[in-house]
Amino acid sequence: MIPQKTVQEILETAKIEEVIQDYVNLRRRGVNMIGLCPFHNEKTPSFTVSPAKNIFKCFGCGKGGDPAKFVMEHEHLTYPDALRYLARKYRIEVEEVKLTPEAVAQQQAEESLYILNDYARQFYQDQLFETDMGKSVGLSYFKGRGFREETIRKFGLGYAPNEQDAFVKKATQTGYKLEFLKKLGLASQYDRDFFRNRVMFTIHNLSGKPIAFAGRIMEKDVKAPKYINSPETEIYVKNKNLYGAFFAKTAIRKADECILVEGYTDVISLHQAGIENVVASSGTSLTDGQIALIKRFTPNIKILYDGDAAGVKAALRGLDMVLEKDMNVRVVLIPDGDDPDSYLQKVGATAFQEFIDKQSQDFILFKTNLLLAETKGDPVKKAGLVRDIVDSISRVPDPFKRSFYVKECARVMELEEAVLVSEANKAVHQILQKRDLDKRKKQEVKINIVPEDGEFPTEVPPDDQGEHSFVAPKPRTAGHEFQERDIARILVEAGEKIYDEEENMTVAEFVLGNIEDVLEDFDNPEYLRIAKEAMQLVLGKSPVTTQYFIGHNDQTISELAVDLLHSPWEYSPGWELHEMYLRSQKKPEENFNKDSLSALLQFKLRKVIRLCEKNQLQMKEVASDDSTQLLRLMKVQMKLNEMRNELMKQLGMVVLK
Ligand code: CTP
Ligand code: MN
Repeated sequence: MIPQKTVQEILETAKIEEVIQDYVNLRRRGVNMIGLCPFHNEKTPSFTVSPAKNIFKCFGCGKGGDPAKFVMEHEHLTYPDALRYLARKYRIEVEEVKLTPEAVAQQQAEESLYILNDYARQFYQDQLFETDMGKSVGLSYFKGRGFREETIRKFGLGYAPNEQDAFVKKATQTGYKLEFLKKLGLASQYDRDFFRNRVMFTIHNLSGKPIAFAGRIMEKDVKAPKYINSPETEIYVKNKNLYGAFFAKTAIRKADECILVEGYTDVISLHQAGIENVVASSGTSLTDGQIALIKRFTPNIKILYDGDAAGVKAALRGLDMVLEKDMNVRVVLIPDGDDPDSYLQKVGATAFQEFIDKQSQDFILFKTNLLLAETKGDPVKKAGLVRDIVDSISRVPDPFKRSFYVKECARVMELEEAVLVSEANKAVHQILQKRDLDKRKKQEVKINIVPEDGEFPTEVPPDDQGEHSFVAPKPRTAGHEFQERDIARILVEAGEKIYDEEENMTVAEFVLGNIEDVLEDFDNPEYLRIAKEAMQLVLGKSPVTTQYFIGHNDQTISELAVDLLHSPWEYSPGWELHEMYLRSQKKPEENFNKDSLSALLQFKLRKVIRLCEKNQLQMKEVASDDSTQLLRLMKVQMKLNEMRNELMKQLGMVVLK
């Protein structure tokens, strides 16, 4: 383990441009440097490096982060190994923290499991290639399925002989302990071979070490299970592993897409045919851990389903989880009766590739079409379908994608878009509400938009684009999200800076201490998440640092952070009024005090304006002879106007000063 102090030193020393220039030619452009992105193919450079902020960002493929992130991505290293790489480059001595005796023992135990598994792999391989039975039974089985010798060797395929304890005997004679054989599932509880008379598949971890085995029966239509698998151990955690990932990872990155199939043989077949960006879930639906694994390499998944309709429907539900992780999911149905392996063998590599390119469909639209065909015009069933689809859509974190899906699905289902919009709104609202916001100490409050005696309109009004919700198509920073994006940006960029020296208050503490009344007005859940994470840091008395966000485990957050740091500073639309003052001002990044105050005030102003509009609408709707009601609304209006003026005044002072 690397001591925290050294981690800090490494992160502070590593210069992004120096690290990247070892791999990429960069040239200056203004304060930044640009070059051709090493993570995707491009002819015009969109790969930007900011020496000042010590981060990189590719505007083509979206990758970005700090020096450690670059090394992780480029060299396929874990975080600690990326740090070690940087330490070597900058000649920083890494004095690894001494592991406890238990940890050392644990590591040694794991190491011995790998060694034993590798011994087993070699044994099964020798059986396959060197023994008569192996050749006549096992090797001919694989050859019969079209696997070439180099493929068989590469994937560690083998043959377990039809004997009671051939492996156990040999392994124990060599000196391996029976206890370990049992632990790895290579020996049964009766000290016999666990895998017998089966062809063997080695399961590797991400670094190519053998962690488990699967044995396939060779006869057709027998009662015994088609596959038997090693048990879970410290080195084989099933739901965190994807079969083939070691062989696929580079290709996945290059293609920026991961093909997901069900079976071991599908992976091997496709790989052999030159389609190498493929992994298998091994027959079960995707787990969180597996999704996270894929996401380390690409946000794009293409799922190839075996051609049986029942299986597909069962799989649909599991996919909502993938949507939540903000991945793009496409699906392909392999024609009836075939799986990717058999279909590929049938039609050949070229036709297969063409087929999956042409037939792949966006997951949500695919699901909509599939389920719609079943409702056959039955209105009750259709209502259920709408709920189901809306549920899927509302899990998509990206508001632009959601907006796209709402439109497309409304079209496919022949519904008014507005119906779907309002359903989706409700669902998102529920999701947001579940994320309980932590109570925290309040700082001095400039202006608090809370209704006295509950006299404010309770809902936020439709805005000028028809609705204020996430479904309104809008450019990234323009319009309604500007203010909340700005809050997120300040937290990421300057959260740690001192806002008030006397009070020893940081920018983050100031912003978060004054934000409660507008928290529910975040339209964009990602910006809200940044605010929430920052709040947790403040509550836990940890500094809200740029590094925390760009080094965040959750890629959505780290990417968003980089994006925020890279976005040019912009003025709020409608703020041209004050432009003459703004022009004479220093840039916000040099002036984070004013920056954060004005961002807060603008966010609050947005809320007050929305409330004003809502209230005015209500006034229009009130019957003209209902004077009590009208009077009440007018009072509210006055109060809101006052607030708006006060906010404008404060904003004016901020920009004037
Ligand atoms: N599987 C398993 N145990 C079984 C059946 C299936 O673990 N008894 C897993 C295996 O990972 C298998 C995947 O589910 O690869 C898909 O099952 P299936 O399509 O039946 O197997 P294939 O790998 O396609 O095998 P084959 O092509 O030989 O039929
Ligand atoms: Mn199959």
